[in-house]
Amino acid sequence: MRDGVRTTFSVIGTLVVLALIVTAACEPGAASRKTGQPTGDMWQPHWLQRHMWGVPDADPEMLARMNRHYTFMHVGLPKEYIHAESTIEPNDANVAAGGVLYGNHCARCHGTDGLGDDVAAQSLSPSPALLQHMIEHPVAVDQYLLWTISEGGKDFETDMPAFKETLTREQIWKIIAYMRAGFPERVKD
Ligand code: HEC
Repeated sequence: MRDGVRTTFSVIGTLVVLALIVTAACEPGAASRKTGQPTGDMWQPHWLQRHMWGVPDADPEMLARMNRHYTFMHVGLPKEYIHAESTIEPNDANVAAGGVLYGNHCARCHGTDGLGDDVAAQSLSPSPALLQHMIEHPVAVDQYLLWTISEGGKDFETDMPAFKETLTREQIWKIIAYMRAGFPERVKD
């Protein structure tokens, strides 16, 4: 009888150990963590370090852009930008003023219509963003735009200049109003 109980326990024990081994092997990402192969799961714990920041064959242009977006979404912004909201009305006068500022400070890289097709744009890596498209995306909230335009691309090693010394906040809000208005034809100053 005792032997029977012992055998039953050892069978159960063996089954539990087997079940644990099978579960560990089937865990999503386990295989890829071992082989180092890319997975499509961006939230997998080591995905970011392994596939975004350190991969030798990753496209550096794409990494610089993703780095900016990732920083905004997951690291957060410096204090002065976290709660920033536009202080100007997006009326005709402000949109027109924003258009003049855009023409003087941004168009040489981002293109007259925000499509990055001017001369300087061709030689930069990463190339200037297609602002006409990005302004329609969810990332383009006031805080993100103010931070990007004020601080530029120094932290991301890109050619986007920092404008916080060159333009006032109000001028930057006017440029943002102009972009949000869909880059209407500018009145020349
Ligand atoms: C010398 C060229 C240059 C000038 C001038 C410039 N930019 Fe940029 N800008 C870039 C480059 C290159 C990028 C892409 C890399 C990055 O995001 O840092 C960029 C990125 C951006 C982004 C982020 C887009 C995204 O996809 O998240 C915004 C917004 C932006 N620029 C707005 C402006 C505005 C507004 C001005 C004028 C006040 C301006 N830029 C002037 C080169 C320039």
